[in-house]
Amino acid sequence: MRKHIVAGNWKMNKTFQEADELIDDIVTCLENDTPDADTLVIVCPPFPYLEMAGDYSDGSYFAVGAQNVSDQESGAYTGEVSAAMLESLEMEYCIVGHSERRAYYHETDEIIARKVNQLLAHGIRPIVCCGEVLQEREENRQFDVVKKQITDGLFHLSPEEFGKIVVAYEPVWAIGTGKTATPEQAQEMHAFIRGLIAEKYGKEVADETSILYGGSCKPSNAKELFSNPDVDGGLIGGASLKAEDFMGIVNAWKK
Ligand code: 13P
Repeated sequence: MRKHIVAGNWKMNKTFQEADELIDDIVTCLENDTPDADTLVIVCPPFPYLEMAGDYSDGSYFAVGAQNVSDQESGAYTGEVSAAMLESLEMEYCIVGHSERRAYYHETDEIIARKVNQLLAHGIRPIVCCGEVLQEREENRQFDVVKKQITDGLFHLSPEEFGKIVVAYEPVWAIGTGKTATPEQAQEMHAFIRGLIAEKYGKEVADETSILYGGSCKPSNAKELFSNPDVDGGLIGGASLKAEDFMGIVNAWKK
């Protein structure tokens, strides 16, 4: 069955020393209180810290991922980081298409599709973000918006390739606002996304795909969100920057 995943997206936060300390704290907590066998914890620090963070990854319940990747293979793209570079650091995951990248760096579904291709070609599993902005939800267009993002960003893949994808539903109005989607809103959208995947790739692929929720997820609401049948974990921003808060979310499945 699909994995439960809690992934921390640190965004543009922490110095190297702070990052080292936070990873050390998280790994110590995980060693003292091992997650359930079907749970995977991922941290996604900024690029300069990936090598340091990767040294902590244990190949079982703790993995490291990047927050972004270039849509090009290599060459004269100043400031970009390629999938081959991430592969050479043994990165296992990479976030793609975060709403902040869509909004501030004009990433389209076409660019996101190319990034996904780059990652898969280098054996890295993409964590692909989707989600509507407030106005789209107010106009009841959230399902159309997410369907287009998923279709244009991912549905060129073969079933085998799609099997490597982790989806993250992050309603933009819930990101960093303290305003969380209700468990019903999350479940409704996650079931819709799984239905889209089932229609395109069949039930087996859909049932194996982990679909994470992101947007003001914290220890106090994680249990309720994660108890929904189609919510397989979370992509965590603010609450991933403190070991105690992050672990509170990781342990949400424990009785
Ligand atoms: P917050 O948890 O800070 O709302 O951020 C969510 C997010 O954007 C994770 O990618």
